[in-house]
Amino acid sequence: MRIKKIRLQFHGEYSGNLVAVEECKDIPFSIKRVYYMYDTKNDAVRGRHAHKSLEQVIICVHGSCKIKLDDGQESEILTLDKPNEGIYISCPLWREVYDFSPDAVLMVLASELYQESDYIRDYKDFLDYVKNQKGGNDEAT
Ligand code: TYD
Repeated sequence: MRIKKIRLQFHGEYSGNLVAVEECKDIPFSIKRVYYMYDTKNDAVRGRHAHKSLEQVIICVHGSCKIKLDDGQESEILTLDKPNEGIYISCPLWREVYDFSPDAVLMVLASELYQESDYIRDYKDFLDYVKNQKGGNDEAT
């Protein structure tokens, strides 16, 4: 699975660090929504869903957590612990985020407003969706 990591603009100096994020430059889409998670319990698993068309960049701006990304055939686990690194997720990928450190702040930049109809919240439905998409693409080629 090819997961795109985005190195964000880092400006470190003696007084501290600053990271800049610019849409369509660092982020390959127009940012319509930003949300973030914090005070997440260490035994919590967030996500457990896929999206049909949403694009996202996930940045752990403080602390650390792990993300498991699954394309229906293979999966990969990444540790997110760099405030100047984003993980670009396009569709459809099943994601699970877990092992949050107590100080973790996970920020997500999204290409669309919140839309429940874009979610696939059942893993079997996700596998069917991926299979149907692949079937459609195979027919088209
Ligand atoms: P959810 O997507 O289920 O969180 P996660 O999958 O990361 O555990 O969202 C949790 C709740 O927050 C749910 O009631 C929907 C709401 N929500 C919004 O209203 N707007 C948003 O942008 C997001 C991401 C969630």
